[in-house]
Amino acid sequence: MALIGQDIQEAARWLEAEDVVGIPTETVYGLAGNALSEKALLRIFEVKQRPFFDPLILHVASVEAIGEWVSDFPPQAQRLARMFMPGPLTLVLRKKAIIPDLVSAGMDTVAIRVPRHPLTQALLASLPFPLAAPSANPFGYISPTTAAHVDKQLGALIPYILDGGPCQVGLESTILDFSGEAPVVLRKGGLAVEQLAALLDNLSVAASSSSNPRAPGMLESHYAPATPLTLDERLPAKLHIAPENTGGLCFDQFLEHIPESNQYMLSEKGDLEEAARNLFKALRLLEAGGYQLIVAEKVPDTGLGKAINDRLMRAAGSPTTKA
Ligand code: TXA
Ligand code: MG
Repeated sequence: MALIGQDIQEAARWLEAEDVVGIPTETVYGLAGNALSEKALLRIFEVKQRPFFDPLILHVASVEAIGEWVSDFPPQAQRLARMFMPGPLTLVLRKKAIIPDLVSAGMDTVAIRVPRHPLTQALLASLPFPLAAPSANPFGYISPTTAAHVDKQLGALIPYILDGGPCQVGLESTILDFSGEAPVVLRKGGLAVEQLAALLDNLSVAASSSSNPRAPGMLESHYAPATPLTLDERLPAKLHIAPENTGGLCFDQFLEHIPESNQYMLSEKGDLEEAARNLFKALRLLEAGGYQLIVAEKVPDTGLGKAINDRLMRAAGSPTTKA
């Protein structure tokens, strides 16, 4: 099992030795390795059982450091970086040749972000290299929002998890592609699309599907618990599963027809930020409940609600195609 602690130097020692460690960010926990070391990068893919076609996000200490790794940093992108970084925003920019092909899946762009968690900020500031870090879950499974989540799935494979407590945002970063003519949101996440749209009049949101080559990791089935999950509106008319064998994921009111003790309420006060923080933990708890089916309800489709609904659609195995 991995050691779990708050020792930045211990984490740095493993990273310098080209091994991989769990790190806290404000979005979800990452599985981090030296982004310039082929050995560390291969270990990330191995531990996560991730296909090589799915590129990694480069994590750097500051907005100023981004310039070191990209060949073009458009003014519009710089402005957003100064406003929202550190924070739950990832920018896709044209990369410099120094970035290994394993990070960018052979493309000429790189996804880059500045995480806001103080432990990881301090870690990055102490290292002479940037970190490549996918979410610290086996490929296709629910992202981790606590050190214990990381330990449960990957603890046997990694030496150390830096414990930064529960993630404050709870959803992965919003990915914004600035490598083309106009900015495109490739993944809805912890920074609401509306906030970006208010600043960028040429913004569009990519239809996210597995066939979209600009977002190779946005597969139709992702973030999925082992228990089958269905969204309420698609509940089969005749469900041959007894209510007591069904788990429920609701927003601010219990679902009818399912015992309340089988349900997880994301936010009693109807707060989307609180719901985002609780989402992945809730899916894990419901999965552990041993139900035959999880019935989930969509949350209001606004602000972070759009990203929550996107994750629920993927957990159910079908992507959203709209903003
Ligand atoms: O919040 C986050 O972003 C977390 C924390 C740990 O930082 N990381 C994360 O990484 O969610 P991961 O690997 O689970 O998701 C990264 C996504 C993938 O869907 C990948 O396809 C996409 O970013 N991506 C990476 N590089 C890209 C690129 N150059 N162009 C387009 N998409 C890219
Ligand atoms: Mg992931």
